[in-house]
Amino acid sequence: MNLNKISIVILAGGLGTRLKDFRGTNTEKVLLEINGIPMIIKQIGQVLDWGFNIDNIVCVTNPNIHDSIQKVNRDKFGSRIKYVTQPEQLGIAHAFSFAEDKISSEQILLVLGDNFFEKNPFQKKEMESEDISNIFIKSVENPEDFGVAEVEGGRIVSLEEKPVNPKSNLAVVGLYLYKSDIFSKIKTLKPSKRGELEITDLNKKLIEEGSLTYHEIDGWWIDAGTPERIVELESKID
Ligand code: DAU
Repeated sequence: MNLNKISIVILAGGLGTRLKDFRGTNTEKVLLEINGIPMIIKQIGQVLDWGFNIDNIVCVTNPNIHDSIQKVNRDKFGSRIKYVTQPEQLGIAHAFSFAEDKISSEQILLVLGDNFFEKNPFQKKEMESEDISNIFIKSVENPEDFGVAEVEGGRIVSLEEKPVNPKSNLAVVGLYLYKSDIFSKIKTLKPSKRGELEITDLNKKLIEEGSLTYHEIDGWWIDAGTPERIVELESKID
């Protein structure tokens, strides 16, 4: 890995509507226990294990869980994490924008709080250029459930959010490496049909500029956004 100091932004602001009443609780997704430990603790623990030279960790929460998330994190990680609240659930890019004021490094790693990886995604390839943004992709059987990348000749040629007829089986995982000027690009986004500022639309802007590359990850990847995938995750990690 060849990265200078980096800021890590963890998105934990989702309402977990697909998990409502899962295990008889109304607990928000990132506070659900995975083998007895809140998801957010496992998630941040995994990112810390990737060996970055970390400038700053920012956690984006929602108003319902702001206090409880700070409490569980403080017990485990002390005071090294900063917090911002996304007041309304208006999309991943919208949630990310609230981290801007807390960031001073040139590179930023955005991680979705429900994404888990078998292997360190940064082991295989060196991210050599600071001028380029990176997304991470993985071949899956159900691409229609995710952002989908179409790749040709080593370049990403298109991205679509949860397409009915995916152009490939390459899912975009919830891990994005950006430069700090990404926040000015978020300000130019328009809400999608479902009223959200979409991370896929942000990445499409980078494709248009020719400043987005990709890296295919090794090992399993789980987006723990449904009951089935949470059960699968529990069978795969301690
Ligand atoms: O997991 C990878 C997928 O994540 C990508 O392939 C998709 O392109 C991307 O849109 C996203 O899809 P999901 O349907 O899985 O996103 P979800 O709504 O579950 O949100 C992912 C995380 O982001 C979750 O931890 C909650 C947080 N979030 C989400 C929204 C919409 C926020 O903090 N605020 C938000 O407004």
